[in-house]
Amino acid sequence: VAENGLNGWLRYAPLSDELRQHASSLPSVIVALNETETSPVYMAGKELQAGLKGVLGHTLGLTHDFSASTNSTSVILVGTLAASNAAVKHNVSSLSADGFWLNVNGSQVTILGQNERGALYGAFEYLSRIAQGDFADVDVMSSPSAPIRWVNEWDNLDGTIERGYGGPSIFFGNGAVVQDLTRAAQYARLLASIGINGIVVNNVNANATLLNPDNMDGLARIADAMRPYGVQVGISLNFASPQTLGGLATFDSLEPSVISWWTDKTAQLYRRIPDFAGYLVKANSEGQPGPLTYNRTLADGANLFARAVLPHGGIVMFRAFVYNNHLDPADWKADRANAAVDFFRHLDGSFLENVIVQIKYGPIDFQVREPPSPLFAHLPHTKTAIELQISQEYLGQQSHLVYIAPLWKTILDFDLRLDSKPSLVHSLLSGYAGVVNVGTDPRWLGSHMAMANLYAFGQLAWDPARDSQLLLQAWTRLTFSLDPTVLNTITSIAMASWPAYENYTGNLGLQTLTDILYTHYGPNPASQDNNGWGQWTRADSTSIGMDRTVSNGTGFAGQYPPEVAAQFEASSTTPDDLLLWFHHVPYTHKLHGTGKTVIQHIYDAHYAGAQTAQDFVSTWSALRDSNASGTNIDAERFDDILFQLTYQAGHALVWRDAIAGFYHNLSKIPDEHGRVGHH
Ligand code: GCU
Repeated sequence: VAENGLNGWLRYAPLSDELRQHASSLPSVIVALNETETSPVYMAGKELQAGLKGVLGHTLGLTHDFSASTNSTSVILVGTLAASNAAVKHNVSSLSADGFWLNVNGSQVTILGQNERGALYGAFEYLSRIAQGDFADVDVMSSPSAPIRWVNEWDNLDGTIERGYGGPSIFFGNGAVVQDLTRAAQYARLLASIGINGIVVNNVNANATLLNPDNMDGLARIADAMRPYGVQVGISLNFASPQTLGGLATFDSLEPSVISWWTDKTAQLYRRIPDFAGYLVKANSEGQPGPLTYNRTLADGANLFARAVLPHGGIVMFRAFVYNNHLDPADWKADRANAAVDFFRHLDGSFLENVIVQIKYGPIDFQVREPPSPLFAHLPHTKTAIELQISQEYLGQQSHLVYIAPLWKTILDFDLRLDSKPSLVHSLLSGYAGVVNVGTDPRWLGSHMAMANLYAFGQLAWDPARDSQLLLQAWTRLTFSLDPTVLNTITSIAMASWPAYENYTGNLGLQTLTDILYTHYGPNPASQDNNGWGQWTRADSTSIGMDRTVSNGTGFAGQYPPEVAAQFEASSTTPDDLLLWFHHVPYTHKLHGTGKTVIQHIYDAHYAGAQTAQDFVSTWSALRDSNASGTNIDAERFDDILFQLTYQAGHALVWRDAIAGFYHNLSKIPDEHGRVGHH
């Protein structure tokens, strides 16, 4: 049964007899136009064979002989455009790298990739349709929205994972790369099925010893394990490595000895891993070394690595998560949210072409609600990627069910109005980076339901216009069952989960009111303020919220292009769900949506959110009673999820009482419904 977790949404469970009747019109043989065992096209052939066997119950022949496709009209042909050119008529010139053409015409199925990876992606798309019982003819051309679709893993070499909730690392242990990389290959398969083409395998807070010869050999083994699925391996760097590992006196980015140290290391990596993806760099952030240490610019630092990887075709993901974590809370104008734009705005145009600035979706740090980072609007001459977090660091750490895609959509679809023209955030991006932090847990993330977030991340990186509910439902059919009761149950719970979590943790733009000093788990509103971290709420006995206006506050609102800046500058035009992000108001301030006071909204939202979490348990439990036909979820996964939801329901009450009680103590304003302060 562990297989159910390991395979995630790639279970290929048998279809019902009724649906299998359609299978009579399916092809009888698979022709995969590459017989090299490590090629993505070869893997596509294997995957099609195994997937169709699972879903339909019979094994199709598999050949690599092109002539087999020309004398039969009942084949699945999978390969690259180039390999198929001779015989197949097609009009696929519009495909971009990694794109594919999928044509299902009766029992003739053609899957052609712009490259090998594209062919594999097309095979997964075909299998996803069949596994959902969809046998219709189609003719789709699909190309990714952005060339960089990476995951980041925050794995340490000792096998622990920073902000990981699915057990220890599948890559590292005891300072080295693990011997058995079976899980790495299985993970690559899952990633390929959602269009992910790169992975950074170690923590952004990086350890320089990853670059010793043994560990570089180990990285080559990881790359070998993931290459058949088209997933390229990259690493996070520690900026000070030339000094700490290389024994140089300095790590100054402009120093010739430092430059040649990195050039040399990079060549050693490419000798072992010819398709090495590149570097991810966290510099001058939260105590990490960087170019600013020597008064060089952040662009000098990024370009140091960009020059080293450029001749090898690599890229540098340079993180914009640079800020001062020793801010003075007594300074009304101090604001961590300003940092990314302050540090990067003037550098636009000074990065080399293979540098991508990787920007967290919001200005602070993966909170339950944030406006988009205004930095997306300030780098028209620089490539940018958005950083999203699948690992639920601030969102209940996989002990709470939170389906995050709807949150991501609020950012991706946000119109920044550059030059007063439509400028949705996703239209400005060259890439997507998702912090996943899978571990050796057989469910990967420590929760079956959390895998919906990984699925949605890949699907949105491919096409951000996709609908989060439809993605959830495809994931549900593939992961659990085609049963409509299962589908409706999971839809109702998951779609309510982010709003509920926001309600019982931190609403109106206050951020997740968790313990920010260490665990990032459980309620601790008092920890937000009066420290250098700058995730402040400015709550006192009469008023609450960060004043980020230009007129009287930190000026952050003014970092947006004029139309958006004007909207956030006034509380009357700021949406209620970001009110306290942008404005410091009395607890008695009235919301425009409901006319309620801020304090009454805080009370009501916490009660409503916690109630929704109670309802999840009964909604889920009802599934067991509906399982008369035996078409729905196996007992092991059912019970596992019930356990999680039961825990969440209890913890939501803890959250509710802690937060409502905290603001009641502070404001002394009674709850209109008499619930708060009487326990
Ligand atoms: C957060 C997180 C850290 C992480 C950092 C980052 O602050 O808590 O663990 O290192 O983000 O993204 O660099």
